[in-house]
Amino acid sequence: MVEVRVEEDAVTEQPAPENPEGDEPIKQRKNSLYPGVSDELAENMKHGWADTELRHLQPIEQAPETARRRAALSERFPGERLVIPAGHLKTRSNDTEYGFRASTEYVHLTGDRTEDGVLVLEPSDNGHDATIYLLPRSNRENGEFWLDGQGELWVGRRHSLAEAEQLLGLPCKDVRKAADELTGLDGPVRIVRGHDPGLEEALGERLDAERDEELRVFLSELRLVKDAFEVTQLQAAVDSTVRGFEDVVKVLDKAQATSERYIEGTFFLRARVEGNDIGYGSICAAGPHATTLHWVRNDGPVRSGDLLLLDAGVETHTLYTADVTRTLPINGRFSAVQRKVYDAVYEAQEAGIAAVRPGAKYRDFHDAAQHVLAAKLVEWGLVEGPVERVLELGLQRRWTLHGTGHMLGLDVHDCAVARTETYVDGTLEPGMCLTVEPGLYFQADDLTVPEEYRGIGVRIEDDILVTDDGNRNLSAALPRAADEVEAWMARLRG
Ligand code: GLY
Ligand code: MN
Ligand code: MN
Repeated sequence: MVEVRVEEDAVTEQPAPENPEGDEPIKQRKNSLYPGVSDELAENMKHGWADTELRHLQPIEQAPETARRRAALSERFPGERLVIPAGHLKTRSNDTEYGFRASTEYVHLTGDRTEDGVLVLEPSDNGHDATIYLLPRSNRENGEFWLDGQGELWVGRRHSLAEAEQLLGLPCKDVRKAADELTGLDGPVRIVRGHDPGLEEALGERLDAERDEELRVFLSELRLVKDAFEVTQLQAAVDSTVRGFEDVVKVLDKAQATSERYIEGTFFLRARVEGNDIGYGSICAAGPHATTLHWVRNDGPVRSGDLLLLDAGVETHTLYTADVTRTLPINGRFSAVQRKVYDAVYEAQEAGIAAVRPGAKYRDFHDAAQHVLAAKLVEWGLVEGPVERVLELGLQRRWTLHGTGHMLGLDVHDCAVARTETYVDGTLEPGMCLTVEPGLYFQADDLTVPEEYRGIGVRIEDDILVTDDGNRNLSAALPRAADEVEAWMARLRG
């Protein structure tokens, strides 16, 4: 990339560049409005630009839903000013930044995804008036447009505030005035913390950690039940993910010639072409790496005869993510012991999925899956029964390691700060979307299991929507039963 560099003392230290036409050299004046830039060029850059304002934009598809969510928020915190920031770019190194991902709370309440945005709900006679503070289009008069690193000439055109108002369905103001405006107002205020330290500092002692946490918890719980738009987005995320898994199967020979990175890169290509990004670091775990739950280094070899545990999800442009895992035999056929472990996990997942229905306790699907796995471990002689004793003492957890699932949505582990009584101790309702993902993991150095198990890790993970009368597996297009996995792989690899 090119570098923006406008240094204070460049005027005097740099020799005046030659005029390419060979006439008079461009004068670098010490009192130039822009250091290193002649007044003539500065003046020149102000003019000659077409009016590109977009005057007839349709609102984003989810505008009615974001308005409903803001209304629910308003009702919960009457008379209080509420501040929900999107967050800022984060430096990766020197003057390069990580790709930006707006805060989940901000996206859920606005549908907007741009950096620096701040949603403010100001108490009013009708509840609250909502405003979004955004960075407007770059000023061409003061040179910001082409001399500032965040100027549109460098980073691309932004929506004007008037355009953003049409798209998002609420008034938009210049974000550079937000801190002053907010600190100039009296009355109680809450902010979602962790996204905009500058604004938190500006609001200072008017904020209270406990009250701010109540706001964050409420917004987490507001996402527990997905509306119809969110379900279409989750399905789109899953559909792209299915295609990404197919892509990976087709290049397994190339991965064998290189490394797990080939798998990561292949899935990432699908995520970037069809969506915004991956929803979390792809876990491309071949052989014994499958027993490391969050193996994201993805730098190991891919060998025939081993399993590949691929846990990956595409994030849509609206920032909803899938979270899917398949454990695949790299050469297309499970060995006897691999299949034995795989079938046990499959059976546990079937039991877990069957327990997902409205009115069921959230914990039911976990308990159902754990029961199957504990019974298998007892049957195989890896732990002493009876099964109820194993479950009571949690002894199966040496090999099952993690919970059987979690809520899914804008965040891969969605609704993470919802209260225990509304989530883990809660009851399933239509519109909730969760993963069911049991696994068995035998570490390569686990001396308590026969050698043939060591280094085998299996997880099967699907995205399950609670419906009015049961559930729908959003990721059903990817085969799960061992025979079906083998047939699917054979078909894709021709
Ligand atoms: N990919 C993280 C998880 O499955 O929860
Ligand atoms: Mn996963
Ligand atoms: Mn998961």
